[in-house]
Amino acid sequence: MDERYLPEKDVYRVAVVGATGAVGKTMLEILEERQFPVAEMVPLASSRSAGSTITFNGKDYTVQDLEQFDPAGLDIALFSAGGGTSLAHAPRFAEAGCYVVDNSSAWRMEPDVALIVPEVNPDALAMARHNRIIANPNCSTIQLVVALKPLHDAVPIRRVVVSTYQAVSGAGGKGMEELARQTAQLLNAREAEQDVFPARIAFNVIPHIDVFLEDGYTKEERKMMDETRKILDPSIAVTATTVRVPVFYGHSESVNITFEQPLSAERAREILAESEGICVIDDPASEDYPMPSEAAGSDPVWVGRIRDDASFPNSLQLWVVADNVRKGAALNAVQIAEMLIH
Ligand code: A2P
Repeated sequence: MDERYLPEKDVYRVAVVGATGAVGKTMLEILEERQFPVAEMVPLASSRSAGSTITFNGKDYTVQDLEQFDPAGLDIALFSAGGGTSLAHAPRFAEAGCYVVDNSSAWRMEPDVALIVPEVNPDALAMARHNRIIANPNCSTIQLVVALKPLHDAVPIRRVVVSTYQAVSGAGGKGMEELARQTAQLLNAREAEQDVFPARIAFNVIPHIDVFLEDGYTKEERKMMDETRKILDPSIAVTATTVRVPVFYGHSESVNITFEQPLSAERAREILAESEGICVIDDPASEDYPMPSEAAGSDPVWVGRIRDDASFPNSLQLWVVADNVRKGAALNAVQIAEMLIH
């Protein structure tokens, strides 16, 4: 496939929808860091923060109200303002000729919408030529499929069992405020006020992210299972347990993989170490393994604790960590935007 998505230009007109949020702010930072060729930045949010100022590439921009904004003339809009906002506004941006990269779950499982992790399924982007909406996968899905893809290419994967340890930033700025506030309240012998999460998150672990479905899974678990199969291979069986932990940035995952044929831990370690977007830290002798405290603020997907599953044939166990706001959201969206201009 050689045809470009957007005409070749020196600079592009880019909007960030949800520019005042945790992911939106990181999108702005990453566009700057990677020197994305931006002619004009259009920060958009709700009427609550319209009129406030953000700085991009040393220049001040006024945040505008999404409801009132006319997208004509925009090239790319990165959306991270919740599913309802995407459902209501992404189609009118796309109809105005703008490519939308949407971080919400609103469009991900639509059969004709591209769901993209650039290291994993770049060719699926071709679907976006028709509808101009590209979905950014769930944060936990992204780091999982980056780790699974090179292993699946080496030996086909039959089944994946994954349990997550997800940071509160996955619930946006409000989630981070709740962990900080509850921690301070409990350390001051006061009652912890609860608002964002379904139970107290400070000094706790909550096996419940998003709503429960009729089959007993949560919607977050269902997203991981369905999205992994859509991105990687629908023939892989996937089951997930998603858990919120009192960590600010960085999701961790315990992953058990059963292959069709044997794949040794040693060979898996070599394959992962050579793969795009992955850093392996795996040295039990020096007690080296990935952790969110170190992955936070970084771009790669970190993999460690790679070992043969002693309980079952053709199976491996590994530990996968990434910054959920960067690779899990903003960075992946910016990488998709880069594919649109090259
Ligand atoms: P606002 O600052 O106006 O509320 P987070 O995920 O950190 O909670 O951030 C959510 C982001 O989505 C914020 O930038 C927020 O803007 C934006 N947002 C939420 N609801 C809407 C809406 N209805 N229209 C536009 N932006 C919205």
